[in-house]
Amino acid sequence: IKPRFTTMVSLRSDAVSVAETSSILRKLKEECATPLPVLRQVADAMSADMRAGLAAAHGLPMIPSFVEDLPTGNEKGLFYALDLGGTNFRVLRVQLGGKDERVVATDFDQVSIPPQLMSATCEELFDFIALGLAKLAAKDDDRLNLSPGKKGEIGFTFSFPVRQTSIDSGILVKWTKGFAVSGAAGRDVVACLNEAMERQGLDMRVSALVNDAVATLAGAEYWDNDVAVAIILGTGTNACYVEQIDAIPKLQGHVSSSGKMIISTEWGAFSKRLPLTEFDRAMDAASINPGEQIFEKTISGMYLGEIVRLVLLEMAATGELFGKSIPENLYTPFILGTPDLCAMQQDNSGDLQGVGSLLYDKARVESTFSARKTVLEVCDTIVKRGGSLAGAGIVGILQKMEEDSKGVIFGKRTVVAIDGGLYENYPQYRTYMQDSVKELIGSEKSNNLIRFILLQNRQGKTRLAKYYVPLEDSE
Ligand code: GLC
Repeated sequence: IKPRFTTMVSLRSDAVSVAETSSILRKLKEECATPLPVLRQVADAMSADMRAGLAAAHGLPMIPSFVEDLPTGNEKGLFYALDLGGTNFRVLRVQLGGKDERVVATDFDQVSIPPQLMSATCEELFDFIALGLAKLAAKDDDRLNLSPGKKGEIGFTFSFPVRQTSIDSGILVKWTKGFAVSGAAGRDVVACLNEAMERQGLDMRVSALVNDAVATLAGAEYWDNDVAVAIILGTGTNACYVEQIDAIPKLQGHVSSSGKMIISTEWGAFSKRLPLTEFDRAMDAASINPGEQIFEKTISGMYLGEIVRLVLLEMAATGELFGKSIPENLYTPFILGTPDLCAMQQDNSGDLQGVGSLLYDKARVESTFSARKTVLEVCDTIVKRGGSLAGAGIVGILQKMEEDSKGVIFGKRTVVAIDGGLYENYPQYRTYMQDSVKELIGSEKSNNLIRFILLQNRQGKTRLAKYYVPLEDSE
């Protein structure tokens, strides 16, 4: 984004600059506001787009997962899982012990995805993944007691939109979250991974492909049978829920023993009724997928820091927020991450030293006390909008489920399982999200009926589902 920089900057008085920063802030707050009517419109539009997507008319992608049974909690055995999400890639080996023991032992490796891999070739990306798996498989661990030489089956959590036609196959529709790996869109990602494992000499094959939201729902169900919805709030965002097969017109004719299926909404693609600003539009225009994933770009971790950077750049340029010249580093896209906003918002010191040091360390920005206060207000505005809209989205889903079958949600205890670093690590975001749910459905209903559970233990938690076929005996 090019700031509306005027050549007259140095001639203006400080009072004029301060007034300009305040006016940008005021306008930002107005445009990002999420009063109840806005939240309600977003929730209603979300429900409507879910219905449209189920009928394949238009609306949300509403991807059938082919996950038709949920874990009971009795599952036992040794499971392998691979998890390719946004910033990290994880390989897990887990021993489930059923209701009494739950997760007996886990072993996992986490590798951050080297940025160059995000725009590498399909083969390079999948070879990297298969290599990580080969390393874990080679580890010798008595607790996990892996029988060597046995043909292994593995569950693959792949957190991108995939058109599935069965539990163990799926065509990548498109990349999101900054990935631009060439030659992958339109291909079956299971075949890509199976071929890469073969190249690494691994005697394994993918037996289940699941989206991360779907894995979160299935995994949470292992602990709690009242989980109805799962949400990812991390680098990207998504939501899924259990749908009745006969309410999915686009799956007409599909035979299912349970009569249900988890649907991945891909709600990141939602775009209606959102309170957006010129900064959102500039960020979208500069992204690798302009015009796409607008809800994701408004509420998820990959983007909040970037929106704040654009606002600060404008304030620096036209309001001299950081003095007469614009700090050079503020021109660098993604120089401020959402974890940085979070760290700044936890600064309770009187002089906002923490905010000052972070701005300096990250972007070589020198700030006065008053500039730091403004920075915090900008962060809060963007985070409040994000959290509140996420809450409205959740209510949109619950509302749709309740409309279809009265009492299924609001008549009983309902659990929303949530996973993702944004929700996990950002207390203000969490509060805004929960407040918005309360505002929309009333605090009584929300306190009594809706529980948000965060799946804490990163190691053994969500990605263990029935769909991760055991290497050894299961129940
Ligand atoms: C993006 C992906 C989606 C994933 C979400 C959370 O929105 O398109 O598949 O579930 O990020 O990781």
